[in-house]
Amino acid sequence: MAILITGGAGYIGSHTCIELLNAGHEIVVADNYINSKPESLRRVNEITGKTFKVYRVDLMDELDLEKVFIENTIEAVIHFAGLKAVGESVQIPLIYYEANIISTLKLCNVMKKHHVKKLVFSSSATVYGVPQRIPISEDSALSAMNPYGRTKLMIEEILADLYGSDHDWSIALLRYFNPIGAHKSGLIGEEPIGMPNNLMPYITQVAIGKLKELNIYGNNYPTKDGTGVRDYIHVVDLAKGHLKALEKVTKIPGVDAFNLGTGKGYSVLEVVAAFEKASNVKIPYKIVSPRPGDIAVCYADPTKARIDLGWNAEKGIEEMCIDSWIWQSKNPNGYEAAFNEEDSRLVKTAGIF
Ligand code: UD1
Repeated sequence: MAILITGGAGYIGSHTCIELLNAGHEIVVADNYINSKPESLRRVNEITGKTFKVYRVDLMDELDLEKVFIENTIEAVIHFAGLKAVGESVQIPLIYYEANIISTLKLCNVMKKHHVKKLVFSSSATVYGVPQRIPISEDSALSAMNPYGRTKLMIEEILADLYGSDHDWSIALLRYFNPIGAHKSGLIGEEPIGMPNNLMPYITQVAIGKLKELNIYGNNYPTKDGTGVRDYIHVVDLAKGHLKALEKVTKIPGVDAFNLGTGKGYSVLEVVAAFEKASNVKIPYKIVSPRPGDIAVCYADPTKARIDLGWNAEKGIEEMCIDSWIWQSKNPNGYEAAFNEEDSRLVKTAGIF
């Protein structure tokens, strides 16, 4: 029995593969490598010493996807695959609706056909829109502020309807706060395509000299120092949350949402200071206008995940910064340099890492 990981080559997906393999799970990865590289999976193999099957599959192609279910005994699915850049989603909403919503529908259809009804879904704290209360608990009002957020919210609703229609389904909706950090080895980490949108990859690229200075989006928010406050969570803690969610969906049917955050908020300036301390590198910055759509403060109430899943984040901001820095300094060009012909040959069809 295997766990299918869609988008397993991506940032959170690859870290989750490691935790699953280390916990003794058999995994099968499906990825179209639109936002990721097969090299991350080769490194998952290097870190864990374990082999696993990999399919180059686009979830939009139902026949290809079905082949994965025919050739393997899939017990449950962790569904990471999707597009995630807010700004881009505003420019090309139809592509986002297709890549996120239609492909999830196709995945659920194939799962249903093969009687696989256990699903862990990558949602996001973005479904809280402008939060009405801080810290944010799962029963807060939901809203979307952009097409990306709307895809996450719509998928949550679709999955709730799916459970409503058939109580054999068991679905965990994991609402991630702000994942940063990387695996201790420095072999895998976040690799933004083009200019980084998110804070930590931007900081690390300034630190290695690829970018000149950090633009801080506004210092007039009603926060301790005027800069935006977020709940940064170490990606390895986040990955571990998926194992706990998997245990839950394996035991109890239902559809339930969980915040995966630390419950602590740090401002942009605090993150910059923590990073400078961890790396011993000065981060030049300038204050610029607020980014449209940004909120002042966002951090989780993680109580429900602690009680219902038995999970809580263990790593602090120092470790997050150190691990982000190790990853970036060991891989100044991300996975780029490591991508070779052998990898591309392997991933043309099903490969084994
Ligand atoms: C962003 C997305 C959110 C998505 C999440 C996924 C937006 C508006 N929100 O969240 O929907 O779920 O990423 O990872 O894009 N900052 C700077 N300078 C930068 C980058 C960021 O000052 O160059 C600030 C932001 O204003 C914010 C904080 O850093 O206060 C964190 O930003 P970011 O890492 O982009 O995450 P979110 O905006 O919380």
